[in-house]
Amino acid sequence: MSGSITIKKKIPSFKKTINVSGDKSISIRWVLLSSLAKGVSTAKNLLLSEDVFAAIHAIKKLGIKTKFNKDKFQIFGEGMNGYKYKKNLTINAQNSGTLGRLICGLLINTPYPIKLIGDKSLSKRDFKRISDPLTKFGAKFNLKNNKNLPLTILGSKKLTSIKFNEKKGSAQIKSAIIFAGMRTNDYTVIKAKKSRNHTELMCKHLNLPLKVNNKKNYDEIFIKKVNKIKNLNYNIPSDISSGAFFMVLTALSKNSQLIIKNVNINPSRIGVITILKKMGVKIIFQNKKNYKGEKIADIKIISPKKIRSISCPVKLNASAIDEFLVIFLLAAKANGVSNFKNLEELNKKESPRLVWGSKILNKMGVKNITTENSIKIFGNPDLKINKKIIIKNFLKDHRVFMTSVIAALAFGGHWKIFSPNSIKTSFPTFLKIINELKNNDKKKKYFKNKY
Ligand code: S3P
Repeated sequence: MSGSITIKKKIPSFKKTINVSGDKSISIRWVLLSSLAKGVSTAKNLLLSEDVFAAIHAIKKLGIKTKFNKDKFQIFGEGMNGYKYKKNLTINAQNSGTLGRLICGLLINTPYPIKLIGDKSLSKRDFKRISDPLTKFGAKFNLKNNKNLPLTILGSKKLTSIKFNEKKGSAQIKSAIIFAGMRTNDYTVIKAKKSRNHTELMCKHLNLPLKVNNKKNYDEIFIKKVNKIKNLNYNIPSDISSGAFFMVLTALSKNSQLIIKNVNINPSRIGVITILKKMGVKIIFQNKKNYKGEKIADIKIISPKKIRSISCPVKLNASAIDEFLVIFLLAAKANGVSNFKNLEELNKKESPRLVWGSKILNKMGVKNITTENSIKIFGNPDLKINKKIIIKNFLKDHRVFMTSVIAALAFGGHWKIFSPNSIKTSFPTFLKIINELKNNDKKKKYFKNKY
């Protein structure tokens, strides 16, 4: 297994249709909700990545049976009280903030303490953001340094509903509270700054006692005790966050076109589309359909002649939060100066991503002024790279790795990028799809398909 990849060549123009892998947020939510359902739930196109496997291992540790058969994944849920809690249980969320945070909500009634651990990256991240609201329900949490993993959940039988004002625009915090709210009698009320709403849509599809009032700047969510969840069969749509790397690569490659099939275009996830369109990229949704409350389409991207700079509206931040690193590459080639503000949450991801965005741009020779929550990027439409660039020690952040690959393919230079295995977190087929984009020279692959 190689510890790095080398890229020395720009990608030639391409016209292709691709499939990217299943949506990570929806996959993890499907695993967790199915684990509490009564009966057999089946998913197709479940994302087979390390974050989702961590979720599957977690529910198995809680005594839930699963089965993988060809393209189908099955979970044999035993109801809302079907977890088999054991003494001295440790759950490893590995790299997944979504799993680590959401599962805490489900476990607030555990009769025995449960320890939650994660990898080096997750162990640096903030868990006080969920332990604070979950403590109000009546559970207790012991955290390392009062905010990090490892943490121990000390559940309670006497849980009470809460009122909470979620101000960060974090779907993970919101969802952890919704899951906890399923375990109390009265209505829990969340005033939540807008963020991805897959949890709410899945709960509504399942007819759970959840209500949402959509206000202009926030959502008001009501959730109360869930007695039964029916089994949930789901065809997971493709992940727009994975598609985003290829959208930007297309936008940066001359005379190129791409169709990405069957992508989740939930309005709370399409900030990247709005931003790319504002920057002059032509994007068309084809074959739109609704699926269990979610919206799905094939996305067609056509590379523009010129890229416009952007003053990115802060209201798009939550809906593009996982895509900013790769969006910064587009700003690097824009005609003019781009501004991105109020992005403090970006430094709280798998790595400090605002810092890494700036580091990658610096290595590329792109002027940028970066603070702890903003970045100003001085674009250069003629940007070409001729030097050697090494990208390493980024806490194996999958999105830093993939962004660096896109930069190498779009701008040229001689890149050595470490930790290719990081793609297994969210998008194991990323490098295979890059190879598929090569139109002519079929024999010559950019990378080996296996790492
Ligand atoms: C996610 C929510 C986002 C996002 C993460 C996935 C989710 O995090 O960055 O990759 O599935 O709920 P926050 O909720 O912390 O913003």
